[in-house]
Amino acid sequence: MATNQAPPAACKITVPTSPSAVIHTATVSAPTNIACIKYWGKASSQYNAPINDSLSLTLDQSDLRAVTTASASSSFTQDKLWLNGKEVDLKSNASTWKRFRACVDGVRACAGPKLDPHNNNTILVDNEEWKSMHVHIASYNTFPTAAGLASSAAGYAALVASLVQLFHATESYPGQFSTIARQGSGSACRSLYGGFVAWRSGGKLADWSDSRAEQIVDEHYWKDIRALILVVSDKQKDTSSTAGMENSVATSQLLKYRASTVVPSRMEQIEQAIHDKDFETFAKLTMMDSNQFHATCMDTYPPIFYMNDVSKSIVSMIHAYNEWAGEIRAAYTFDAGPNAVLYTLEVYEVELLALVLRYYPEVGDGYVNNDEKRLEAAAFELDGGLVEAVEKRCRVRDGGDVKMVYCTKGGPGPQTLEDGCSLFEFVSE
Ligand code: DP6
Repeated sequence: MATNQAPPAACKITVPTSPSAVIHTATVSAPTNIACIKYWGKASSQYNAPINDSLSLTLDQSDLRAVTTASASSSFTQDKLWLNGKEVDLKSNASTWKRFRACVDGVRACAGPKLDPHNNNTILVDNEEWKSMHVHIASYNTFPTAAGLASSAAGYAALVASLVQLFHATESYPGQFSTIARQGSGSACRSLYGGFVAWRSGGKLADWSDSRAEQIVDEHYWKDIRALILVVSDKQKDTSSTAGMENSVATSQLLKYRASTVVPSRMEQIEQAIHDKDFETFAKLTMMDSNQFHATCMDTYPPIFYMNDVSKSIVSMIHAYNEWAGEIRAAYTFDAGPNAVLYTLEVYEVELLALVLRYYPEVGDGYVNNDEKRLEAAAFELDGGLVEAVEKRCRVRDGGDVKMVYCTKGGPGPQTLEDGCSLFEFVSE
């Protein structure tokens, strides 16, 4: 499997240990997800619970994933975290510390015994022993961190999934692990499942344990859905989602209306569209919800701008494409950053990529992650009427506005990786 690759050398962590130390480890990879109905606004900051339901597609992990190794040992003297090869000072940032603790302690509370299958399933570590151990966690992303590509979703989903493996944890109710991942980063709860996933806002229970993710259909159900990700900027975003949401909840009237009135009916409609494989309805709702999310950002005081002029030119191009086709063949959606995610169907994937490559031409090697698709798109002849329709909307061919294009699709939830994928090398001193 593509995810079972050795980690990049720069992300490998060498940890000196005593020769007698027993170290337990587990490595997983976890996917990103891109919301069609957006989560924006917290009803509880303490529990990181949202003001509205949301729904996303979990993306394939071949190109975009977070890989995390979680390890525990009674020889470790403190909890430690490394991201992309660099150690994070966990306690220097109160929010990071709170999120990290919620995940580690939350999963550990569900721990089970580690058994020895080679020795009559004798207990190697019991539930109580896990509590006395510190953890070392190392993680890396295969895509730009904090550029609005849902890296926190993949990262916290990988953290929780690796801890579940490490501690042999089990859920006491369906979706319990998603309530833990949610406390790392809200959108992470949806990355614990493959396919289309809803996050039910909950709020009937005082501890918000009903604010959980739930799979709508798995990744095999609507197989021909495709996603193109246009990386407009790979820089870190200006306003974090957490800070942005806080301000939107405090100041936007539109956000209140959206959460109470718009989203509940959109959730019903989009779930039905997914069950019916009705792309037109799915795509229209996806675009309208992205637009409304960015409208609430604009309605925030002071306003937040995540989309830039390049993002807006992509919106125009997609509307020109759909109008020319006389049907909806593609949908755009934008998260808390300028990058576009375009949803389409397999039959139109090459046409859409050809359109993207015409107006946002390649800027160097590796511009498209998938060479086969790139060649197919290069050979595809776009209809003259389509070119005219796009150019009427003022888009001119301009290299450099888009830095990279990922061709991807729906995929499964977290995967357990082989020992050879571990990010740690424990060396006896
Ligand atoms: C625009 O999950 O990153 O991507 O819970 O504060 O960590 P925190 O926020 P986060 O917000 C994601 C917002 C979004 C929409 C979505 O994914 O639903």
